[in-house]
Amino acid sequence: VNIIKLTVADYSYNIYIEKNLLSTLGNVLRNTVSEEKVVVITDENLNRLHVHELTANLSRNGFKVFTIVLVPGEESKSFETLMSIYDKLVEYKVTRTTPIIAFGGGVVGDVTGFAASTFMRGVPFIQIPTTLLAQVDSSIGGKVAVNHKYGKNLIGSFYQPKAVYIDPGILSTLPQRYFNDGMSEVIKYGAIKDESLFYDLLKKNNEVNLLESMDEIIAMCCSIKKDVVEADEKDLGERMLLNFGHTLGHAIEKYYNYSKFSHGEAVAIGMSSITHISEEMGITEKGTAGFIDEILMKYNLPCHIPELDTKELMDFILLDKKNTESHINLILLEKIGKSFIYKMKKNELKSFFKA
Ligand SMILES: NC(=O)c1ccc[n+]([C@@H]2O[C@H](COP(=O)([O-])OP(=O)(O)OC[C@H]3O[C@@H](n4cnc5c(N)ncnc54)[C@H](O)[C@@H]3O)[C@@H](O)[C@H]2O)c1
Ligand SMILES: [Zn+2]
Repeated sequence: VNIIKLTVADYSYNIYIEKNLLSTLGNVLRNTVSEEKVVVITDENLNRLHVHELTANLSRNGFKVFTIVLVPGEESKSFETLMSIYDKLVEYKVTRTTPIIAFGGGVVGDVTGFAASTFMRGVPFIQIPTTLLAQVDSSIGGKVAVNHKYGKNLIGSFYQPKAVYIDPGILSTLPQRYFNDGMSEVIKYGAIKDESLFYDLLKKNNEVNLLESMDEIIAMCCSIKKDVVEADEKDLGERMLLNFGHTLGHAIEKYYNYSKFSHGEAVAIGMSSITHISEEMGITEKGTAGFIDEILMKYNLPCHIPELDTKELMDFILLDKKNTESHINLILLEKIGKSFIYKMKKNELKSFFKA
């Protein structure tokens, strides 16, 4: 088992990564949780495929398990879902010490975490992420949120979990497109922070040994995310590096009204495009954009920006919540494995994208 300890301010928790961890989790939790009652929040797909293994295991170890099953998909990161979760927590007589377990992808993790952070001013929260994206990104670092009609993740807080349990084996049932989505974030980590992840693991692997080295890949990503979160929990500096490809990616997602490209695909286009531009400007080492494109294509991700109205796209970029009043914080690569924040005046945006 791979254990990564994350510390923010005066609080620490562990991220455990191990194949088949799920089959022993009841026992593991029994040794750390003294409560009898636990609540598992999940979605219908996981309820069909994997929840039984988890809840049976918890019950065998003396837990009284209550489950809340959400509708799969981004729509569940809503006020309505949140209210229905609070209703159930009251009905199940949850107290301030009852642990709430998020068992699912980023959607379940984000809404469960936000519910846990607010119910009775905060109840213990445990993450068991089940998508690649959630295992390398959303379950770590304590950002929890729901969406508002004026923006994704607009209502949220920072609320760190008690622990994160990652079982890479559970990815075997994840639909391919979601797997690719997670790979886009994995490639991002290599590009911004870890040359060896990028070249040794991602570039050399084929599909078979990719799955075999998944625990190692996930651990490398989690450890990068840990470093970044520890340096800047509240996302005011270093943590912004995780936004590589995202400023443009978010704008592309919005431009197509979240229908044409998934998050990972839009980020892939973002990473490729921004690196082509910065390379042409002489900011990024020559050949870097080519390496990025090669890897994106290897993992079935798009890398070329489709024909679109750049004026409209720029308006979306200007709306990004990572911007300050006068500046846009763009993340650029010096080369593979080395990234930095490029502060650009808003009025320079146009000439930048002309490049
Ligand atoms: N909090 C953060 O730091 C952070 C970071 C990145 C993304 N996010 C959020 O994460 C969300 C996206 O998360 P996601 O990509 O995990 O999507 P998701 O939670 O919607 O899961 C994707 C789909 O896969 C299914 N699924 C999950 N695990 C499965 C498994 N093991 N086998 C079969 N099917 C499975 C789900 O039911 C769902 O249909 C977005 O809302 C985004 O805002 C949050
Ligand atoms: Zn992302």
